[in-house]
Amino acid sequence: MKSKVFVLALSVSISIIFSYISSEAASDASFPSDWQKWTSVSTTLTGIGALPDCNADVSKLPPIYQETVSTYCGVKQGGPGKVAVLVNPAVMDAYKARNGKFKDGSNMILHLKDMKVLFVTAHKDGSVTYGVFSEDGKDITANDGPLSAGTCKTCHTGYAAFCVNGQCGKIK
Ligand code: HEC
Repeated sequence: MKSKVFVLALSVSISIIFSYISSEAASDASFPSDWQKWTSVSTTLTGIGALPDCNADVSKLPPIYQETVSTYCGVKQGGPGKVAVLVNPAVMDAYKARNGKFKDGSNMILHLKDMKVLFVTAHKDGSVTYGVFSEDGKDITANDGPLSAGTCKTCHTGYAAFCVNGQCGKIK
């Protein structure tokens, strides 16, 4: 009798462990450990300089930028703050040309400098993947909400006129 209870308890705890593992967030993009050597580019967003807080008047910006502000203005008090866009030097030509010809691997970063967070866009076998990392490489991609890969994808693929194969910005 005792052993049956033990087996039951064991299988319950194993299934709890497994459901925990499977629900744990994981990035589909890998952390680019050489990100500090990537090329910083000037775009519309870096021209604005920062992602503002939720009270900012962004009504003059294109809709995709308005949605970006409304998605991220609340992730930090006062707004996410200073930003930079970094491009893997190996795909600089594709970024400039906006031709979508990205090689497999991590290719672009939206650096939230004040938050010390990297939004990473990668490519694999013809599809675009997304991840969120701390500057030192901790995978902090969430299951849902603003820091989930699903949210990145919805916007980056949803604005087809703005974003080409995962690239939404353009060199200014
Ligand atoms: C509501 C829309 C929206 C969401 C959600 C969003 N982005 Fe973006 N993203 C943009 C826009 C617009 C730009 C271009 C900004 C500019 O002018 O540089 C951009 C730029 C980027 C860039 C710089 C390279 C480029 O030009 O595309 C990366 C990398 C990036 N986003 C990754 C992510 C990741 C990872 C997530 C999810 C954690 C995410 N984004 C969520 C709209 C969005």
